[in-house]
Amino acid sequence: MKTKLLRGRVLDFVAEPQSIDDSSAYRYFEDGAVLLSGGKIAACGEWSDIRGKMPEDCPVADHRPHLILPGLIDPHIHFVQMQVVASYAANLLEWLNTYTFVEEQKFADPEHGARIAEAFFDTLVRHGTTTAAAYCSVHGASAEAFFAEAEKRNMAMIGGKCMMDRNCPEALRDSPQQGYDETKALIEKWHGRGRANYAITPRFAITSTPAQMEMVQALIDEFPDAYVQTHLSENSEEIAFTMELYPEHPDYLGVYEYYGLLGNKSLFGHAIHLSDREVGMMAETASVAVSCPTSNLFLGSGLFDHDLLNNAGVPIGVATDIGGGTSFSMLKTMDEFYKIQQLHGQRFNPLMAFYRMTLGNARALLLADRIGTLEAGSDADIVALNAQATPEMALRYQSVSSLSEELFLLQTLGDDRAVVETYVSGKPMKAGLGE
Ligand code: GUN
Ligand code: ZN
Repeated sequence: MKTKLLRGRVLDFVAEPQSIDDSSAYRYFEDGAVLLSGGKIAACGEWSDIRGKMPEDCPVADHRPHLILPGLIDPHIHFVQMQVVASYAANLLEWLNTYTFVEEQKFADPEHGARIAEAFFDTLVRHGTTTAAAYCSVHGASAEAFFAEAEKRNMAMIGGKCMMDRNCPEALRDSPQQGYDETKALIEKWHGRGRANYAITPRFAITSTPAQMEMVQALIDEFPDAYVQTHLSENSEEIAFTMELYPEHPDYLGVYEYYGLLGNKSLFGHAIHLSDREVGMMAETASVAVSCPTSNLFLGSGLFDHDLLNNAGVPIGVATDIGGGTSFSMLKTMDEFYKIQQLHGQRFNPLMAFYRMTLGNARALLLADRIGTLEAGSDADIVALNAQATPEMALRYQSVSSLSEELFLLQTLGDDRAVVETYVSGKPMKAGLGE
């Protein structure tokens, strides 16, 4: 079995940090090491302890003085929107109609899907992201391209083809039956194959008729183990339009509730403008609110309230939402998330940010037994980060005197340049697939 040892300053989380001094929430080894074997983590701890467990002539990747963390996790991203990023629009619905629904039509061509999938995973890895929950286009071929390319790299990915049968261009519509049939075939082929998981993906209530929502419900009943992903309460016009289309329901979440979409494997992107009833129902059903800060600022959608949802017991994820979002970097994403909480007058400390990018997002995806941690037995998805990656970071680093200051520097000034290496299933991947 292939073994390898990573040496560096090792950090992972074991619980959600309750304050900036909460050292019980993480493990940190100043002179630490992680032993990898067969794509898994065999051991993690002090270098002085781990070195004794190393087989003879085990290769060592010496990352000192950099930090070694679990790979970063992005629980809401549109792989088909790489060429939508930076599209100038007044708001969500204008942005969707003017750019996004035009761009996604290109994925009718499987070759386009295959080319973008390759670029997508290269880009994630370059940014230190090792797992994502991704939206494909309505075309089954785009989901095929997504999963095939992830499998080549042995990456743990969640994805699904969008289901849409109204309020979008004709070329992007499936029928309720077609959406059901194609989704079912994709689940049967990909869900649980290697490191892949499928997410049943009705794009949002606006683009699905009640007939399609019934098909979504049938799929959930048939495949209760699959994820569900959709959008919820991102923008005020979107909410008003949803309530026009579904007037018999008490609120936006009520539509999804009626069709059986709520649950602990259900990921609701944005979740900004929620009523008390909706917050309570999300908590009761353990439905996940996935915040997308760079997107919410870029599209002027609103300000996600971390403490409100967290205190209510709603599971939370934080994600890029490329291409509404403006960066693939989870560091930059947490920087913007921090600023949004500042506007709410909340303290969102850097331990919380690094928890969210790793164990927190793994928990939101119910994958914390495998990723988001450096526990022995978990998958060897790991990132090495350099807090002195740019001249200005190096200069600022000179006055850093604690771990949380270093994390805050990484979060505030860092991006892909701070990613020294990304290991996927124990393999260094930053240089590319290396076929
Ligand atoms: N709501 C429905 N589709 C989308 C999308 O592609 N991006 C964002 N940000 N919101 C959506
Ligand atoms: Zn989205």
